[in-house]
Amino acid sequence: MLNDDQILQQMPFCLDKTDFPQLGDKYEGKVRDNYTKDGKRMIIVSDRLSAFDRIITMIPFKGQVLNQMAKFWFDQTKDIVGNHVIEFPDPNVVYAKECKPLPVEMVVRGYLTGVTSTSVWTHYKEGGRNFCGNELPEEMKWNQKFDTPIITPSTKAAHGDHDESVAPDVLFERTDLTPEQFEHLSDVALKLFARGQEISAKQGIILVDTKYEFGMTPDGEIVLIDEIHTPDSSRFWYMDEYEKRFEAEEEQKKIDKEYLRRWLADEGFTGDGDVPIVPDEVRAETAKRYITAYELITGNRFESEVGDVHVRLEQNLSKYF
Ligand SMILES: Nc1ncnc2c1ncn2[C@@H]1O[C@H](COP(=O)(O)OP(=O)(O)O)[C@@H](O)[C@H]1O
Ligand SMILES: [Mg+2]
Repeated sequence: MLNDDQILQQMPFCLDKTDFPQLGDKYEGKVRDNYTKDGKRMIIVSDRLSAFDRIITMIPFKGQVLNQMAKFWFDQTKDIVGNHVIEFPDPNVVYAKECKPLPVEMVVRGYLTGVTSTSVWTHYKEGGRNFCGNELPEEMKWNQKFDTPIITPSTKAAHGDHDESVAPDVLFERTDLTPEQFEHLSDVALKLFARGQEISAKQGIILVDTKYEFGMTPDGEIVLIDEIHTPDSSRFWYMDEYEKRFEAEEEQKKIDKEYLRRWLADEGFTGDGDVPIVPDEVRAETAKRYITAYELITGNRFESEVGDVHVRLEQNLSKYF
């Protein structure tokens, strides 16, 4: 774990945005800058933090934490399904095979949870017993574990739009995804999720839910793309607190953006209007939580140095120009 001074010293060096036209055509996501050229994709993970679909602030080392965590999981799951990784040219970067994305986000859920209007829990609480084609048993409680994890596929919204949870039939109507492909993706997604839960459990962490994206390589192989089991794509809870909090119907102890979301909510921000300016203490605390998450989940020490990420990127990426 880096110490508090190192985290504060890194503040002015946060990776806010990148501009490398030499790397190809740019697609700027909320968190990642994607450059494509010659059938390859350079994904630079920035330090931007998004919440409520808005960019809130920059968190020191966050890009590296996310990229290293995805690296860990790609490695731990490559026997289940191939992935897009070619190499990691920099702590914040993955160089990947450019694939044709399949038009679905495979969301896997191990627990009946959520708070937003579109969450499974809200649907259930209001009497819904079928979610995206899954029959939900009666008498379930908030944050209860499903007997077996369920898949709730979601459409991939165009840039800036919200994704929508749908039943598989709707996917087949709206996209060119076939039922056979969906079967295959479901099988793979459940295996990935089981592996994720198994490894997390050894570290005392519950992988609650997550989403996977898949793509087709030019050779026609279906591989895992995007990211895997990061705090941006997944929910994690602390195992030792689970039972007690479940019985008391309290919020679970979470490893994710919850700390910053809570701070924002306390400031009166829930997605609309001006984003409040996040003080350095809050950004530093958020950084510590991301780093702790990395160390807890992977069991590895987080290695980094204070310094200008832009300069390091220039050095590490110039050979791809
Ligand atoms: N290897 C890949 N080949 C093709 N597309 C990819 C690959 N990896 C990720 N993508 C896609 O690129 C997009 C990256 O967007 P992202 O950086 O996550 O920003 P946002 O989700 O905020 O739009 C996603 O739609 C993802 O499916
Ligand atoms: Mg994304």
